Amino acid sequence: MKASKYLLFAAIALPLVLSSCRGERFKHQPVHPNMNMDQQERFEPQEENNFFEDNRAMRKPVDGTIARGKLKADKAFYEGVNEDGDYIENIPVDVTKSFLYRGKKQYEVFCTPCHGLKGDGNGIIMANNYGYVPAPDFHTDFVRERNEGYYYAAIANGVRTMPSYATQIEVKDRWAIVAYIRALQYSQNVSKDEVEQYDVSLDSLNQAFAKKQEEEQAKKEAQKAKGGGEVSVERGKTIATNNACNTCHSTDGSRLVGPTWKDLYGSERTLDNGETVVADEEYLRTAIVDPTAQVAEGFAPSMVPYDHLSDSKINSLIAYIKSLSKNAE
Ligand code: HEC
Ligand code: HEC
Repeated sequence: MKASKYLLFAAIALPLVLSSCRGERFKHQPVHPNMNMDQQERFEPQEENNFFEDNRAMRKPVDGTIARGKLKADKAFYEGVNEDGDYIENIPVDVTKSFLYRGKKQYEVFCTPCHGLKGDGNGIIMANNYGYVPAPDFHTDFVRERNEGYYYAAIANGVRTMPSYATQIEVKDRWAIVAYIRALQYSQNVSKDEVEQYDVSLDSLNQAFAKKQEEEQAKKEAQKAKGGGEVSVERGKTIATNNACNTCHSTDGSRLVGPTWKDLYGSERTLDNGETVVADEEYLRTAIVDPTAQVAEGFAPSMVPYDHLSDSKINSLIAYIKSLSKNAE
């Protein structure tokens, strides 16, 4: 009597225990007594289906129809361009205070790591010198004079080496960020007259600024003292790699975003103002620390200044660029 009870228990429990052994490799289909949704009939993506004439299970949307919420006819809103494909000048939605705050929030989440809280390009990624292409300062005339559609497109499509943020930031938030960039630009370009209309004391600000400059100077000197003073072609090559110069400048004669460095030194350069100059050391130095002063013909003035590099670093870069030229003595 007692033994048969155990047998009955074993007869029920054993198959259940065995059938629940899943997650291992089976030669055959696993035992699956509970027919749940794993077994339902369905078509996998790209699977064949003879029910349709073209034998495809995946169906195209019916011609001439658009799914709800997918109509993006408003080019200005969705792409930042007008009918002719030119960037629109102004944000195509109402800019309210709360919209601006939304933009601030999103800007601080997505853009500050590179462009900085103030939009001056001093984000933490840039400050720590990870070798990323420097993010431009939003307060230069070159960037400030851009249309608002251009900023929108930069977020939606990316720009040169900056990736697109289309998957992370929804359309309306992109415009909110654009509005906030304009606010940042305004904050950094207020005229003295306008500031004087308000009852604020600039003394504490000026003191903080002077203190910051002193700290930066001390940091530079400490770096110099650490033996960063050597000038060599080898070091120039490393600095060029660390600063991602090679994403825009080739050394084999091919054209990237910027002119190639092959045979650049000593060659005659035509500038966008029609002047011609010889690319001597002084020219290279200016090209690195103040690139918009002399813009090579046929190129956009899209290089940011590398004036934060120490003299010995800049001299090493020049030595390296020189070493790539047949014109070097
Ligand atoms: C990972 C770093 C990084 C982040 C994050 C980033 N950017 Fe950029 N951004 C760059 C770099 C680098 C460039 C310059 C790209 C180049 O010249 O190759 C750039 C260029 C731009 C430009 C073009 C300026 C010009 O030259 O005309 C705009 C506008 C811009 N970014 C806006 C934004 C906004 C808005 C966000 C946030 C949604 C953002 N960026 C987030 C790195 C970044
Ligand atoms: C985002 C792309 C980009 C990066 C990164 C970049 N440059 Fe440039 N550079 C350019 C463009 C575009 C020009 C041409 C327009 C101009 O002269 O401003 C240029 C011009 C130059 C020139 C003058 C070339 C000529 O034919 O007249 C020199 C030298 C130069 N860059 C050096 C550097 C160095 C050194 C670095 C890294 C520390 C660097 N660049 C990083 C885009 C870039």
